[in-house]
Amino acid sequence: MAKALYPGTFDPITLGHIDIIERALHLFDEVTIAIATSESKKPVFTLEERISHVEQIFKGNKKVKAIGFTGLVVDLAKEENSNILIRGLRAVSDFEYEFQLANMNRAMSPDLESVFLTPKAKFSFLSSTLVREIASMGGEISSFVDPIIEKALKERFK
Ligand code: COA
Repeated sequence: MAKALYPGTFDPITLGHIDIIERALHLFDEVTIAIATSESKKPVFTLEERISHVEQIFKGNKKVKAIGFTGLVVDLAKEENSNILIRGLRAVSDFEYEFQLANMNRAMSPDLESVFLTPKAKFSFLSSTLVREIASMGGEISSFVDPIIEKALKERFK
């Protein structure tokens, strides 16, 4: 069974992330959304909230799992018995950082393969930071996030 891990902060998960997850589901039997605590990013949503968001959005889909993690993604991959890391590439600007991350992960865990997927062009400019900023200023975010996230952001910033 091919089991892939999709790591990230997901603060919050956006339609761009969902697009990547749906593409990964065409390729792998199971996709685990691995949500990093990312304390240095000072997330707006707690780890539990971010896990719950993914669970609510993919409710009923047995192929998608959400877990939280701290520490190295290579260690998590071993714990989860997965040797596939999914990463999204939105634009050329993502490439250098992703190339560095993939090679560092490979240096630590040679059997771990990073697989890069590209989202629909309309999501190539999207980031969680911009979505949070727009929401915090009362802007319209319905075309960037699932209604569950839209509601959660509105409540957080009201
Ligand atoms: N659609 C929309 N937004 C996307 C996206 C997509 N398809 N793909 C990425 N993004 C956004 C993310 O939301 C994030 O936005 P933000 O910076 O505004 O929050 C931004 O692009 C950067 O994404 P990413 O590079 O995935 O950062 P991240 O914080 O979400 O995840 C980890 C980085 C957690 C995967 C990485 O730090 C990690 O592996 N940490 C574990 C520790 C470790 O192993 N370190 C050693 C690595 S060699």
